[in-house]
Amino acid sequence: DKCGGGRLGGKNEPWFSSIQLSAVEVSTPEEMFVENGTDAKLPCTFTSVEVISSAASVSWSFQPEGAATRISFFYYFNGRSYPGKDLPFKDRITWTGDLNKKDASISISNMQFRDNGTYICDVKNPPDIVVKPGEIRVRVVEKDSLPAFPIAMVAGIVIGTVTGLTPLISIVVCLVIRKNNSKKRYSG
Ligand SMILES: *[C@@H]1O[C@H](CO)[C@@H](O)[C@H](O)[C@H]1NC(C)=O
Ligand SMILES: *[C@@H]1O[C@H](CO)[C@@H](O)[C@H](O)[C@H]1NC(C)=O
Repeated sequence: DKCGGGRLGGKNEPWFSSIQLSAVEVSTPEEMFVENGTDAKLPCTFTSVEVISSAASVSWSFQPEGAATRISFFYYFNGRSYPGKDLPFKDRITWTGDLNKKDASISISNMQFRDNGTYICDVKNPPDIVVKPGEIRVRVVEKDSLPAFPIAMVAGIVIGTVTGLTPLISIVVCLVIRKNNSKKRYSG
């Protein structure tokens, strides 16, 4: 898949691709930009060859930027959310997924600069437990530091109205402009 953790496999990649076991495939965006103080909706979807069972579970972990280890901060099982108690995201996590729709997304409110880093979405659907987790690099940027965003949105809507592809074009234009902006911001 294009969105998944393509770089996760590393040397294991051939192993994964040569043995086509039943496997959960997890998809997330690779990178996201979130303004400080706003909510981050972390999308994660998956496919499984097995029927989604009541034993299915989702876990989310976080690897802060520059840190070597990951901490598990959220677990969802059997219709219940288990947010960690003494963790950076205490009281800020909302389960927004729906396992029947193969959606394992969560939302984290009031994002702060220290929350930038990699968020890992892992889904198990026994007996389908071979998973390549999805990884999202979240960049928390200063609020109002993305002035191109509304302009892109307007441009997208104008172009989109003409061509009749409003949502698609505005999304693409926004993403491209946001990405370019942020590259500039962090490269120098
Ligand atoms: C976002 O960060 C800026 C700069 O540090 C700060 O002034 C502002 O209060 C923050 N906004 C929120 C909502 O936390
Ligand atoms: C991520 O957050 C840390 C801690 O606040 C900060 O030092 C670092 O510059 C941030 N990195 C990016 C890419 O925003």
